Amino acid sequence: MALSFDKNGILKKIKNVKSFDELEKIRLEFLGKKGIISIEMKSLSQLSIEEKKLKGQELNLLKQTLEEAINNQKSLLENNELTKRIEGEKLDATLPPNLIQQGKIHPISQTIFSVIEIFGNLNFSVQTGPDIETDFNNFTALNIPAHHPAREMQDTFYVKGEEKENNILRTHTSPVQVRTMLNTKPPIKIIVPGRTYRSDSDVTHTPMFHQVEGLVVDKHSTMVDLKSTLVTFLKEYFEIKDLKYRFRPSYFPFTEPSAEMDVAYTKKNNVITIGEGEEWLEILGCGMVNPKVLENCNIDSSIYQGFAFGMGIERLSMLKYGIPDLRSFFEVNYKWLEHYGFNILDLRSRSGI
Ligand code: PHE
Repeated sequence: MALSFDKNGILKKIKNVKSFDELEKIRLEFLGKKGIISIEMKSLSQLSIEEKKLKGQELNLLKQTLEEAINNQKSLLENNELTKRIEGEKLDATLPPNLIQQGKIHPISQTIFSVIEIFGNLNFSVQTGPDIETDFNNFTALNIPAHHPAREMQDTFYVKGEEKENNILRTHTSPVQVRTMLNTKPPIKIIVPGRTYRSDSDVTHTPMFHQVEGLVVDKHSTMVDLKSTLVTFLKEYFEIKDLKYRFRPSYFPFTEPSAEMDVAYTKKNNVITIGEGEEWLEILGCGMVNPKVLENCNIDSSIYQGFAFGMGIERLSMLKYGIPDLRSFFEVNYKWLEHYGFNILDLRSRSGI
């Protein structure tokens, strides 16, 4: 039983279709309710049973073949359209980014990014810890036993309802040293940026502020490594090759020996210039990790040693970006942020030290 149309011719036609409209027209012509296949199906009733069966099968097969061909062509057209659209949407990466910007990066965030970048180049990795800490991690493990005056020195906030667990708001980032040493085998080389809290509020203190901690524990680190790490960091951070600095002996329960590092500055017409002059600004605390702290954290102090340091992010930020008032960091003043904030793509200028 011959069909009343040319199957191969139709398939060829489908393959040549260039638009969805054209394809839909062909679909309706053959597969629509009033299409050729439907009409042919209807005409089967006039045939003998034998012929009906044969032609019926043939028509069904043809219907399937046409449906398949039409669907394939449809996918092809869709793909072509997508490719065209993607090609049309090409980005010119050499164009400057959209200059209409809303919002700025807070100087605290920018300072933290810089600090991470510099220490990252010195192979430090970043660790973080929770703001609510145990008394053990914040004090005891760091060789600050109960009733030690350092606890008062740090004006601790106790967490209400959690006194029994002795939970507090961490007064420094040093408890993350403890967490890391308890959980990791040396060698350890980390920095810990984060929020810290002390019950203190005046022109130079805010109850919440930021610190960055550093900890190195291995078999050979010495005071010389401590010194060169910190000098490299500060020269790089302030972008001053000949930064004038000094180390002063100091005391922290968790380091022995301990030191503080100052940078020189001059103040003329209320403008501070860092790195030169006869005045000194304290910038960080540091020292060799006290063997007692290593032992408290299950590290064998006859094999391992290391150094630690801690500094205030706000101070680093104020000095580098000329921000005169500490409290302004936290006043959520949009005008201030407009002025002191950073654009998303502001990169730290590199001094190449
Ligand atoms: N944790 C000290 C502070 O908050 C800073 C510090 C850290 C000093 C590590 C020495 C070593 O003042």
